[in-house]
Amino acid sequence: MKPHPIHPVLVHFPVACWSLGSVTDIARLFFGGGVAEVSSWLISAGLILSIPAMLTGLLDLGNTKNNSAAQDTVITHVSFVLITWTFYAASVFMRTQAMTSAQFISLALSIGGLVCLGFAGWYGGKLVYSHGIGVQIKELSEDRHRRDTQNLPQVK
Ligand code: HEM
Repeated sequence: MKPHPIHPVLVHFPVACWSLGSVTDIARLFFGGGVAEVSSWLISAGLILSIPAMLTGLLDLGNTKNNSAAQDTVITHVSFVLITWTFYAASVFMRTQAMTSAQFISLALSIGGLVCLGFAGWYGGKLVYSHGIGVQIKELSEDRHRRDTQNLPQVK
């Protein structure tokens, strides 16, 4: 999206909610009940906040060429995002179930979601830092790069 990609701005919110949700999920093993409610709220917030992140991600897809290596990375990134979403949604759903193993299953799904979130972020970063998706190459001219990294006087 021009002039500045909005997707990298919005992804922090679901990433923060989900990762903190999983951490509090693990903490519930040690501290019990109240913490479980915090993790359910955080994971549910992540499920909602990931929607605008997904929509802006779709807008940034216009920056990738068909049949390119970057497009393969997008597919991997989006696949991990969707698996992450499914894991966390299933984790929240399991909390509403009365089965004795529901608590254990919801924790396992939450940890699975966290692992997939790590992969989704890894491939998202690869899109930006390896493939240069969303990066304005003209801004990265050798001269500009030298000025930005070597503390030389800034020329406007
Ligand atoms: C399913 C829809 C999605 C699509 C099509 C998509 C697509 C993209 C694209 C094209 C990029 C590289 C260019 C840019 O930063 O705009 C990217 C980067 C990234 N995406 Fe996604 N994405 C989606 C959902 C998500 C979600 C829900 C998250 C977080 C939970 C996420 C996390 C990231 C991260 C962390 C980066 C790297 C940003 C950076 O390092 O600057 N993406 N994604």
